[in-house]
Amino acid sequence: MIEIKKDYNLTKLNTFGISAQTKFFVELNKESELKELFLSSEFKNNEKLFLGGGSNILFTKDFNGIVILNKLKGIEILEENSENVFIKSMGGEIWHNLVLFAVNKNYWGIENLSLIPGTVGAAPMQNIGAYGVEIKDIIENIETYEIKTGKKKIFEKKECEFGYRDSVFKNKLKGQYFISAVVLKLSKKQNQNLKYRALQEYLDKSNIKVGSSKDVSDAVIEIRRSKLPDPKVIGNAGSFFKNVFVSKQKLKDLLAEYKNMPYYEEEENFKVPAGWLIEKCGWKGKRIGNVGVHEKQALVLVNYGGATGKEIKDLSEQIIASVEDKFGLKIEREVNLI
Ligand code: EPU
Repeated sequence: MIEIKKDYNLTKLNTFGISAQTKFFVELNKESELKELFLSSEFKNNEKLFLGGGSNILFTKDFNGIVILNKLKGIEILEENSENVFIKSMGGEIWHNLVLFAVNKNYWGIENLSLIPGTVGAAPMQNIGAYGVEIKDIIENIETYEIKTGKKKIFEKKECEFGYRDSVFKNKLKGQYFISAVVLKLSKKQNQNLKYRALQEYLDKSNIKVGSSKDVSDAVIEIRRSKLPDPKVIGNAGSFFKNVFVSKQKLKDLLAEYKNMPYYEEEENFKVPAGWLIEKCGWKGKRIGNVGVHEKQALVLVNYGGATGKEIKDLSEQIIASVEDKFGLKIEREVNLI
């Protein structure tokens, strides 16, 4: 049985810790409850918002619809052979718990994605990524329900149209499917990905010779802990902005002026770290009232306590304007605004 609550406060359900109300709220604990949910008038007649860890969302106002909290749990090995293992995780699992499940068995492919906040179901939405790996690299397929019909549909990887922090679920099919589970294909053979410079540097510096996927996972956890604020201590949603794609010519122009500017090159695409651009504009560590820019990573906006979503949004707009002014580049938000 599902219980639909009225006028529910969401402060604890978003990592920014912003106080916002939703007209209706329901927790989904079993897949079989979806049917009942889809038939309810509260669901049928209202705007819907599926929530996982609430780690990529900024409430700038109350939500006049129904929030569905995905708490579907369960991780199982579907199939394995000498090379690969296929793991199914329900969408309400905490992403990092799935990572731990895999690295404790020494499976490879997911370890660079350690400690990313949020749930499994939300991860493919924005194709989470860190340290040279994106979830698209390990996805086999995604189990969903079509919201209009309640029918189950499996998306193969190529149907998901993954891009940098992007998928079909954020674009063409936005709001049309609920992700109930994800199937990953991991490797049983040692297969580390250390092409991300900061990761390799950390391993060298700490004299770590990688023997298991847990070694890499532990390193990523250390690096993240040293740079990124813990949402339990200080409200934030990880990277607030996306890194920015630039043309080859623009990159040349920038490098002529800023010789040490970091950038990534991926298949003829050039990306400049937004954190670097924001820092160069003088924002790093700056505080305005209840909100600010994190002192160790300028991509992260923080709520020092009692902030409204609007304060964060206003700060983000000032940052976007100043980066555009100085560099002629338009940075975009990664976080979803409500
Ligand atoms: N940099 C600065 N100043 C800053 C931040 C970064 O100069 O304030 C420079 C760094 O020195 C480095 C470069 O920018 O040369 C890249 O920095 P970093 O390795 O920290 O990564 P990022 O590009 O800033 C991205 C992801 C992170 C992910 C890291 C590690 C995006 C939007 N962010 O950040 O993802 O953890 O790479 O792979 O792509 C997240 O999405 O919430 C997130 C934290």
